Amino acid sequence: MNVAIMGFGTIGSGVAEVLSTNSALIEERVGQKLTLTKVLDLRDFEGDPVAPLIVHDYKEIAQDDSIDLVVETMGGVEPAFTFVKAMLENGKHVTTSNKALVADKGAELLAIAKEHGVQFQFEASVGGGIPIIRTILSCLTGDEIEEIVGIVNGTTNYMMTKMAEEGSGFDDVLKEAQANGYAEADPTADIEGHDATRKIAILTSLVAQAQVDYEDIPVEGISHITSADFAYAKKLGRAVKLLAVSRRAGDSFTVRVAPYLLSEEHPLFAVHGVMNAVYVVGNMLGPSMYYGSGAGSLPTASAVVGDLVHMARYHDEASTIRWSKEKVALETQERPYKNFLRTSLSEAEVRDIFPVAETVDAGIAGEIGVITDEMTEQEYQAAAGRLADGALLQRLRLA
Ligand code: HSE
Repeated sequence: MNVAIMGFGTIGSGVAEVLSTNSALIEERVGQKLTLTKVLDLRDFEGDPVAPLIVHDYKEIAQDDSIDLVVETMGGVEPAFTFVKAMLENGKHVTTSNKALVADKGAELLAIAKEHGVQFQFEASVGGGIPIIRTILSCLTGDEIEEIVGIVNGTTNYMMTKMAEEGSGFDDVLKEAQANGYAEADPTADIEGHDATRKIAILTSLVAQAQVDYEDIPVEGISHITSADFAYAKKLGRAVKLLAVSRRAGDSFTVRVAPYLLSEEHPLFAVHGVMNAVYVVGNMLGPSMYYGSGAGSLPTASAVVGDLVHMARYHDEASTIRWSKEKVALETQERPYKNFLRTSLSEAEVRDIFPVAETVDAGIAGEIGVITDEMTEQEYQAAAGRLADGALLQRLRLA
């Protein structure tokens, strides 16, 4: 069977490498050889072994009847959507690592795939190399999924680990994450939490079998996290992690992406560096956790090639993934949290506004840290509204 790759960047070139390195075992597992025959990219890659395969027009792939399987690793919604749609309409199975595309157009592309009797797979779109999507859709399909808590962005987890352990500066660690091929083309999506938001929207959509719009999910990134926060975290024996949280709430879900202060007992506490992990609670299974490399060329390519092998093995079948375009209205009433606050107020002044359970001194002049009792988001916002401008230096939810 012949394969084409659209987008020969970090992930696309990784897919070519996996297909080449593991060519014999893939052939054995599929029952026939998977041969890369075309690569769509704007560049020519002159002098590179891939150069003879390069095409610049996606129609050269869409209209090539010898190509059965297509990989989309371009990123972004357009033109990826137009290209993927054309591939499906021309009877080609497609796998993508592109979470922006899947979060936005997943339901629509699945419907197109079904209409044309082919598959649209997207294992690599969440958790890099962790096979979390097939786990939720197949292995846990006898369970009602009650809760998903994930560290699903490798870039920010790498950055916060380095900042906590080595005291590195924000800009320096971001550059390292980019050099390692973890970050998005525009790393704002990583740092501001939008990448994690798209990933938890995809997972929640799959659980709901309906459309969860990432724009509806409250999101805070890590750009406001400072070395002072790590000093308090150390003092408290906690870790700062960007979490994507999705919990069943009646017929709906509460979903949030934000940095949290995790206790040592939390299953995600020890997930460091570029590693991702997804903690899933099923109503029969109880808790479970899936751990692995969350970003980078080969781990992500591993998940893409897993999809290729699956689609090659079941090439006569259409997608069976259920994800309707019907929109889920998210519930905003979350369960209450304790909060960690840094403030320039005195302890008495803070206690006047918040129910304080504990104070924390990290030895930083001109401020104190406190931990509140459990508060709903609405209670917290009402109390925070009474603070003088500039009095609140940081707020992190506890997990
Ligand atoms: N930029 C993403 C991350 C890549 O850092 O997790 C993997 O989706």
